[in-house]
Amino acid sequence: MFFSKSTTTLILNLALATATNLFIADYSGSITTLSLTESQGNYTVTTTSTNHACAPNPSWLTLDADRGLLFCLNEGLETRNGSLSSFTVGADGELTHVKNATTINGPVSGVIYGNAAGKRAIALAHYAGSAVSSWVLGEGGEFTHLQDITFSLPRPGPDPVRQDAPHEHEAIVDPTGRYILVPDLAADLVRVFCWDQETLKLEALDPLEVAPGSGPRHAAFWNPYSVACEGCTTYLYVVAELASTVMGYAVTYKPNGGGLSFKEVYNSSTYGLLNLPPGTAPAEVHVSPDNKYLTISNRMDKAFTLPQPDGSILHSDSLVTFVLQDDGSLVWHQIWPAGGSIPRHYSMNAPGTLVGVGLQYDQTVAILQRDPSSGLIGEPIARVKVGGNVTCVVFDEQKALGRLGG
Ligand SMILES: *[C@@H]1O[C@H](CO)[C@@H](O)[C@H](O)[C@H]1NC(C)=O
Ligand SMILES: *[C@@H]1O[C@H](CO)[C@@H](O)[C@H](O)[C@H]1NC(C)=O
Ligand SMILES: *[C@@H]1O[C@H](CO)[C@@H](O)[C@H](O)[C@H]1NC(C)=O
Ligand SMILES: *[C@@H]1O[C@H](CO)[C@@H](O)[C@H](O)[C@H]1NC(C)=O
Ligand SMILES: *[C@@H]1O[C@H](CO)[C@@H](O)[C@H](O)[C@H]1NC(C)=O
Repeated sequence: MFFSKSTTTLILNLALATATNLFIADYSGSITTLSLTESQGNYTVTTTSTNHACAPNPSWLTLDADRGLLFCLNEGLETRNGSLSSFTVGADGELTHVKNATTINGPVSGVIYGNAAGKRAIALAHYAGSAVSSWVLGEGGEFTHLQDITFSLPRPGPDPVRQDAPHEHEAIVDPTGRYILVPDLAADLVRVFCWDQETLKLEALDPLEVAPGSGPRHAAFWNPYSVACEGCTTYLYVVAELASTVMGYAVTYKPNGGGLSFKEVYNSSTYGLLNLPPGTAPAEVHVSPDNKYLTISNRMDKAFTLPQPDGSILHSDSLVTFVLQDDGSLVWHQIWPAGGSIPRHYSMNAPGTLVGVGLQYDQTVAILQRDPSSGLIGEPIARVKVGGNVTCVVFDEQKALGRLGG
């Protein structure tokens, strides 16, 4: 009996090794599940399901791969409020809706955090609502409201249109799991929070101040030696949307959970030393799974004009990759077509062999090949049209974990 059970498990894992699911959020109200099957270097992409329970305006997906849960944010572009929805993820990537709750308007990013005892919560950044909210997570996708923290600006920032009121743009957790960072595009701050270890309520600490008018949007941490601890070398890269810059900071942990201090070690345009086209507005930034490269998506740079097989022309914005240096500086490596217009979001699969790019103005996801050893992004294996403006693309890493861990 035991023998036949483990044989079944082995066969299942071999089958999974060829298939990966992707979740795609778009502003028309859908979460689409794509299945990507690879056979000897050839890929087949099929749409396996579409779910509308995060309508009307899905803006972000947070995957809890370990528990098979997906959280979706509805930005509420034309409504008074936004919402948080949860789903369980089926074996084929099909989503089953668990819960929907009304939030402060404009949630655009969320991150899961917790304590050593296993209690967990999700923190949301609200762009239009000038706030951070948090929600305690229960079993099976249940959640309850914990707190709302709203911010105000004493006066508009240097860009009076975009910096009219605080705009929380992303929420990320530091590598030690002790702090949440929230770039605020209008306040020119990266806000820093710790949390009460019992209740998980967030508490604001001293923020990182960035250049006035730069408009910090998204950020990524990096541990050059792949080890995360308070005494370990830690860098933070902040992408500023209004100035089209990337800043690198050496991060120091203050004693007794007292917060973080930052020392600038690098800055450049998101093109590095190349001339950046006026009007470029960078969007997403990640460190690659191999821990060696930093890739930024640029919107509205229109860097590429690509003739297509059918004779049409594809206008494409760019992905720019830098090599991360041990001293925190960046060395320009590659500029490559994102696959279309307005690459608002991208993510890489766990092995770092594929890049899924959400092309907001093309209602399309481009899936590009990537060589993890050289860090170079390559030709598309697919461009998939969905029903609305794409906001988020997430690989279902449960499959990747199954592939690596069995
Ligand atoms: C992969 O695609 C190429 C080019 O279309 C084709 O020649 C080859 O037979 C395909 N291989 C498999 C295993 O399907
Ligand atoms: C979820 O909540 C939002 C905000 O209250 C609402 O606009 C939306 O219709 C709800 N969605 C569903 C599927 O119930
Ligand atoms: C809905 O939006 C209003 C106006 O911004 C806000 O006061 C209210 O708290 C929001 N409701 C929820 C449940 O967050
Ligand atoms: C960028 O770095 C230069 C030194 O290389 C420094 O003079 C400048 O103030 C920095 N700019 C910003 C916006 O941090
Ligand atoms: C959706 O994309 C179109 C271009 O296809 C653009 O004109 C429009 O502003 C976009 N709307 C949103 C909300 O992203």
